[in-house]
Amino acid sequence: MKVEADLVLSAGQLVTMAHGPAGPVLEEGAVACLEGRVVMVGSREEVEGSTRLVGGALRIERPHSVATPGLIDCHSHPVFGGWRAEEFEMRLGGADYMEVLKAGGGILNTVRATRAASPEELFTLGRERLDAMLKCGTTTLEAKSGYGLDTENEVKCLRVTGRLGSSHPVEVLPTFLGAHAVPPEFQGDPDGYVDLVCQEMIPRVAQENLAVYVDVFCEVGAFSPEQSRRVLECGMEHGMKPRLHADEFRPSGGAELAAMVGALSADHLVAASREGLRAMARSGTVAVLLPGTPFFTQHEPPNAGRFRDAGVPMALATDFNPGSCTLLSLPLTMSLACLTAGMSPWEALQGCTCQAAKALGVQDRLGTLEPGKQADITLFDAPSFPHIPYRLGHNLVELVIKRGRIVLGG
Ligand code: NIG
Ligand code: FE
Repeated sequence: MKVEADLVLSAGQLVTMAHGPAGPVLEEGAVACLEGRVVMVGSREEVEGSTRLVGGALRIERPHSVATPGLIDCHSHPVFGGWRAEEFEMRLGGADYMEVLKAGGGILNTVRATRAASPEELFTLGRERLDAMLKCGTTTLEAKSGYGLDTENEVKCLRVTGRLGSSHPVEVLPTFLGAHAVPPEFQGDPDGYVDLVCQEMIPRVAQENLAVYVDVFCEVGAFSPEQSRRVLECGMEHGMKPRLHADEFRPSGGAELAAMVGALSADHLVAASREGLRAMARSGTVAVLLPGTPFFTQHEPPNAGRFRDAGVPMALATDFNPGSCTLLSLPLTMSLACLTAGMSPWEALQGCTCQAAKALGVQDRLGTLEPGKQADITLFDAPSFPHIPYRLGHNLVELVIKRGRIVLGG
């Protein structure tokens, strides 16, 4: 009996990232989908011979292209007002990222601009950024708050994030990052601010169902492991899944905390301790490497070998934000991962697909192409997947499919 399909796509190389019978990489492979889900994967002949096209079906044949699962950017900060080009210049002149923050600039400059922006302005800016990400092949985006830093403005930004998700082809998974920095009103009283985050912001965000995840900047100079733990545990009590910014510049106990609370991921981790990484391996916490950030802030890159040796799975993301990394392309992030962090092209692609799905806890529906998964596909004008990181800065994306529909190219 033939399988019904409303979309069949064949490609020169089909990268499923799945370990089913078809294998993770198929030359001359095809994928069949129905109503937004994958129903079959196999060789072109196999899929064409066993499917029956139904209801305005679409057949796409790209014998010279690579198809991969839709790219997933599992760490970004896309809703903010203003840019920080002056800070970029200051840092090029020698200013240090954390020193700028300590002096009331950095993240706090963006907080001022974001508080002053209307929801409509933030929505327009966010939509432009999502458009640009889609052009680079992103189909799912984790998006953090963290530039409001008071209840009203955090809620404002998360509502904008929700609107972006419901109106744009890129799927948006929102994160509450109220503990991103200590706002001016609480200077010198981080514990007082953590009280506000836990007693007022988190209950409010949960009540309006505005965030899937809770995040915190656990770093010397930001929030301590103890303060971070309070925020994460409170978010968890309110149904949010924990993830965190950890050990970006100094070993700050972030990796250890991630393992202790059973976080889905710990992100950055350039300076994570060996014990912290071992603990993450035991707890199954994914490391999200953000190689664009140290490139942009001129710090040491993450070392993929440390994570590989410790047995910690590695995801990859842009960290798109106005201060520490303005990069919004995952293919370029993959190039940096290979060239500066020591990842292989295969690890880099896993990082933006199946491992990113794991970092977000959505691996049951995203990140691989196999029956039952969501039909999210990115197609590249290239003969094989290593071309994606190899062709530095080229945009090879020629077609993007989200939930079985063409949303870019065609
Ligand atoms: O992931 N390190 C903390 N937060 C962001 C940067 C935010 C900013 O500078 O605006 C990051 O790098
Ligand atoms: Fe970040």
